[in-house]
Amino acid sequence: MAEITRKWYKEMSVYQIWTRSLCDSNGDGIGDLPGVYSKLDYIQSLGVDGIWFSPIYPTPNADYGYDISDYKNINPEFGTLDDFKKILDSAHKRGMKVFMDLVVNHTSDEHEWFKESMKSKDNPYHDYYFWRDGKKKGGKKPPNNWLSIFEGKAWEYNKDLDQYYLHVFAKKQPDLNMDNPKVREEVKSIMRFWLDMGVDGFREDVITFISKKEGLPNGFPIPIACGIEHYKHGPHLEEYLDEFRQVLNEYDCFAVGEGPMTSLKDAVNFCSEGPGQKLDMLISFDHMNADCFMADWIKIPFSLRKLKKTFDRWQTQMYGKGWNSLYIENHDHARIIERYGNINYRVESAKMLATMYMLQCGTPFIYQGQEIGMTNLKFDSINEYKDVMTFNNFRLFKMLGFNEERFLKLSAKVNRENARTPVQWNSSKNAGFTTADEPWFKINPNYTEINVEAAEKDENSILNYYRKLIKFRKENEIVIYGNFKQYYKNSGKLFVYERNYKGQKLLVINSFSDKIVKFNAPDGYDMSKGELVISNYPVRGQINNCFELRPYESRVYLFK
Ligand code: NOJ
Repeated sequence: MAEITRKWYKEMSVYQIWTRSLCDSNGDGIGDLPGVYSKLDYIQSLGVDGIWFSPIYPTPNADYGYDISDYKNINPEFGTLDDFKKILDSAHKRGMKVFMDLVVNHTSDEHEWFKESMKSKDNPYHDYYFWRDGKKKGGKKPPNNWLSIFEGKAWEYNKDLDQYYLHVFAKKQPDLNMDNPKVREEVKSIMRFWLDMGVDGFREDVITFISKKEGLPNGFPIPIACGIEHYKHGPHLEEYLDEFRQVLNEYDCFAVGEGPMTSLKDAVNFCSEGPGQKLDMLISFDHMNADCFMADWIKIPFSLRKLKKTFDRWQTQMYGKGWNSLYIENHDHARIIERYGNINYRVESAKMLATMYMLQCGTPFIYQGQEIGMTNLKFDSINEYKDVMTFNNFRLFKMLGFNEERFLKLSAKVNRENARTPVQWNSSKNAGFTTADEPWFKINPNYTEINVEAAEKDENSILNYYRKLIKFRKENEIVIYGNFKQYYKNSGKLFVYERNYKGQKLLVINSFSDKIVKFNAPDGYDMSKGELVISNYPVRGQINNCFELRPYESRVYLFK
C-alpha cells in the first residue's frame, strides 16, 4: 500500500459560499461581500479551514455568475475588490484559505473579448471564440447539430458576421477557444492575478470541457447536450491542464476541477500525485446519481446500493494515488435531505448523511445552509423561478406532456434552485437575510423553525453535529488518511465502512432506513472494545456485537 503524502488541502474542510444568498448587508435584497464578512465568525465557528466562493465577478447574471464579464474584478452587486481583500485578509488571519471559482470554458457575451470578437472576422479577438460559418450562407443552418445544456441549439447566429458562435451552456455563455494560445495566456494571467493577491487556489468550473474535437463533428442525436462526446474529454484537455498546472505549481495552492461525466479512470489519471499531476482533486458527479439517471431531472427511486457502489469505487481506486473531494450538496443540486435522506426524519437523516460522507477519505465541502439542514421549496408558479436551466427544462418537459403543475411538483424535488434560496439566519422577517422588503429570491417559509439562531441554541442541532464531525475529522488522522473498506455491500439499508490507519480502526455505521434495523458487527470486531466517538442518537449501556439501529441512525466507533 502506497504511503499517503500529507498535504494541507487534504486536511481541510471547506465551506462553499453562493454569495447572492448568504447575507445582504445593504438592504437591496441581494447577498453581498460585506454580508459574507459579517458572517466570518460564524463560518470559522464551524471549524472549517477554507471558503470556496462561487463566482463573485462582474456578470449579467445569465447563469448567476457563471457568465463572467470581467475576470479581474468583483460583481458590483456584491461589493468591490477592497471588500474582497478585506475578507481574504480576515480569513487568512483566522487560518482559513480562500478559493475562487475559475470559469474559463466560457465567458459572458458581455465580456469585452466577446464584444470585440463580434466586430469583424479579422478582429484579434475573433478567434477567442468558436465562430463558424453556417452550413448554408445567410444563416440557414448551424455548423453542426450540437445542442446546448441550457438553451436549445448550441449555436447562435450573428447577422452582421453571417456566422454562428458556439455556446455549450446558455446563449449568453459563448465558449472560449482554448486552442488559441492567446486564450490560454489570458487564463494564466487570470490565475496569477488572484494568486498574487493571496487567493489559495481554484475550483475550476467544467474544466474538463475546455477542449473541443477538431472540426466540431456532428454529435450523437440526443435532446440535450448533443455533441457532448466531442468535448467531455477533448483531445487537448490534458495538455491544457498541464499548462495551467505550471502556474499553480508556482504557488502554494490547490485546484479542484469540476468534471461532469469524467470517469474514475480519468479522475485517477488527472489527480495522481507526482510528475504529470493535473489537478489536486476532482468534483465527480457519480455519487449524485443514486436517485436519478445521468442528470438530476431524470428521477428514479433512490438506490442505496448504487450510492455505495459509487463511493466504494472512488474511495478504493483513488486511495494512495490521488485525492477525493467529498460533497453531497452544492449550488447545482436540490437539498440532500429530500434526496438521500427523509424529510420526516429531517434532523436524524441530515446528521446521518453528514457522517456518511464526511468520514470518508477526501476533502469535505459543505454548502451554505447544509449545516442547518435547509430543505427544498415548492414554488407556486414557474415565474417565481430565476434560473436559465429551470426555464429550459420547463420547455423540454412541456414537450414530454408535462403541464406547469406537474413540472412544479417535479421541480420541487430536483431543481438546483432549491439550494439557492437565502440562508435562514433567524426567525425574524426574511429570515434575517435582508432588511429589504423583497429578497431577490423566495425564502423558505420554514425559516421560522429552521434557522442558524435556533440551531445555535440547541445542543443537538444539525449545526452542532457538523461542528463535532469537522472537529473530529481534524483531530483524528485516521479520518483524513485512513484507507476505506466497506462491509455489507449488498445491504439495501446499511452503509457500513471501516477506515484503517496506523493500527487504528474506525467503524462508521449508517442506517438509511426509517425502520429499526439489526446490526451485526463484521467478523473480527469486538464492539465492546470500541469507543463510541460520534452518534446521532443517545446510546446507553453495554454494547454487544449485535444491536438495533433506529431510523437513520449513525454510530462511529474508534478502535485503538
Ligand atoms: C457548472 C456550475 O457549477 C454551474 O452552476 C454552471 O451553471 C455551469 N457549470 C456552467 O458554468
